[in-house]
Amino acid sequence: MCGVVGYIGNKEAAPILIDGLQRLEYRGYDSAGIAVSCGGKVVFGKEVGRLANLERELEKNPIAGTRGIGHTRWATHGAPSQVNSHPHLSSDGAIAVVHNGIIENYAELRDELTGQGHKFLSETDTEVVPHLIEQALKDGAASSAEALRSALSRLRGAYALGVLFRDDPDTVYCARLGSPLIIGLGENENFIASDVPAIINRISEVIYLNDGEMAALRADGVEVSTIDGRIVTPEVKKIEFKAEDAEHAGFETFMLKEIHEQPRILRALLAKHVMADGTLELGTGLSPDYFRKLNRIMIVSCGTAYHAGMYGKLLLENLTGIAVETDLASEFRYRDPKIDPGTLIIPVSQSGETADTLASIRMAKSWGCKIFAICNVEGSSVVRESDATFFTNCGPEIGVASTKAYTAQQMAFALLALYIASVRGDLTPEKLKEYLKALREVPDAVHYVIQKKAEIQLIGEKHHDGPSSLYLGRRYNYPTALEGALKNKEISYQHAEGYAAGEMKHGPIALINESLPVICICTKTADEVYEKMLSNVKEVEARSGRIIAVVSEGDTELAKLTDDVIIVPAVRDEFSPMVNVAALQLLAYYAARARGTDIDKPRNLAKSVTVE
Ligand code: AGP
Repeated sequence: MCGVVGYIGNKEAAPILIDGLQRLEYRGYDSAGIAVSCGGKVVFGKEVGRLANLERELEKNPIAGTRGIGHTRWATHGAPSQVNSHPHLSSDGAIAVVHNGIIENYAELRDELTGQGHKFLSETDTEVVPHLIEQALKDGAASSAEALRSALSRLRGAYALGVLFRDDPDTVYCARLGSPLIIGLGENENFIASDVPAIINRISEVIYLNDGEMAALRADGVEVSTIDGRIVTPEVKKIEFKAEDAEHAGFETFMLKEIHEQPRILRALLAKHVMADGTLELGTGLSPDYFRKLNRIMIVSCGTAYHAGMYGKLLLENLTGIAVETDLASEFRYRDPKIDPGTLIIPVSQSGETADTLASIRMAKSWGCKIFAICNVEGSSVVRESDATFFTNCGPEIGVASTKAYTAQQMAFALLALYIASVRGDLTPEKLKEYLKALREVPDAVHYVIQKKAEIQLIGEKHHDGPSSLYLGRRYNYPTALEGALKNKEISYQHAEGYAAGEMKHGPIALINESLPVICICTKTADEVYEKMLSNVKEVEARSGRIIAVVSEGDTELAKLTDDVIIVPAVRDEFSPMVNVAALQLLAYYAARARGTDIDKPRNLAKSVTVE
């Protein structure tokens, strides 16, 4: 996902832009650039590859000036190259643009502009924007703002834009449609950024620009308007988290820091939503009566958030008696799921910007459904387009591989299921108390697992070198198996497959041999799932499989059957996934570390997939 930053004030813009781009690196990118207004010119530098390449270029050719825009590009149209990287300029070099999103009608606009004499240097969709603005000025637009409005009115698709005019020396412009963009408010300086972590060290108040809005930033103020020129009085919001939340805080990677943050985040969610009298408060505006009448839920999400949705489905249907379905957002949008307006749609998204999840929300809204989001980013598109949101309050999740957001999403589902069950009378106050007592054990249990990281490291290093690995789990821990495999895949680049353990004899058992690590989630539960998992472990052991088992404290029987065990505290089965996944996060982490991959920014991956 591309990143956009911008600055206007009385400090040198280039170092501020580079600092902002460094804080956006986690989003994934393949090139970077900045443009600064300097001495009546727009001067730019852009390089393919890591940000360090651009920094080296700027050391050789420094750019002075107190007004500028910057960009990290994640290529969609045109290969990663210097010429395709942003900023893109108009023919006369007087207008520079950086862009996150896709201009869907760029081809026809490019043809039109070429016919008017414009020359294009890149293969990108973005390059049509500065030329459209330039043409609007040629056609008589009375001001930069008017020329920008005219250009924006021609665009179809999604954009978060930063725009710099040579001849408008006191302003940086920005505009948003479908891609996130915020305005950071400073003292005699103002900023634009794709998200808060990019400028968290410089501001404490932000404006979340809405779709169809643009803004003119000056050092002493910001004017927000709609694209058709109506002035808007924006809502100014205080930033909820601190700058250090977006720093390493002494950990070698953001991912390791975020794994360690999980117990605190889970405790905070419990403290926020479980009242002193033992009742639950969601704080989302949907009434108890709404949930009493509810008879169907559809959960839609992608990747790790999809695994959280699978877990949420099992909890909700088990505790509330409501029919619950879950689907990959990228598949849901092609279905005809016979959904009526009485169905509650629950999109789950850490970033709140995932394109497929947003498309599913828009489709469901066209059917008249209510949307209840579980999301981590205030002001994100998912939050804006939902009727209500349960915030996971994790602070920025910088590591591309999601960890703390995942367990927070699971906690959100646990609290939601218990709340709905209690207001519907599916759960007596005594039973609710029993469940909450068990839920309160989870943060300490996660902490206990994290304290075992040195043992888990040895196991991860021992099994990191194979071509593949197989993760097996049942019922509540089937999603855990999928999530453990995804973590391993995305940060260690080793193929890994998560499977329902009950399916093993329907095919995957053919894979078992002495070189294939088989990770079995086999924590002690009071029901038959444990017995059946035990049988699976024995089937693997009988075929000389390399078994890594996640087992409950005190389970000595299983330990005899396996090559390696990760011992975790026994908690109520429904809540065990939050504990078990911490072990698998660390297992993947240390396997990746042994393989020497870029754990926070794995190859090819973006933190949020804002394109379909
Ligand atoms: C998780 O480790 C991945 N980075 C990815 O699968 C992610 O969960 C998915 O893209 C959904 O992102 P979202 O939660 O921001 O919507």
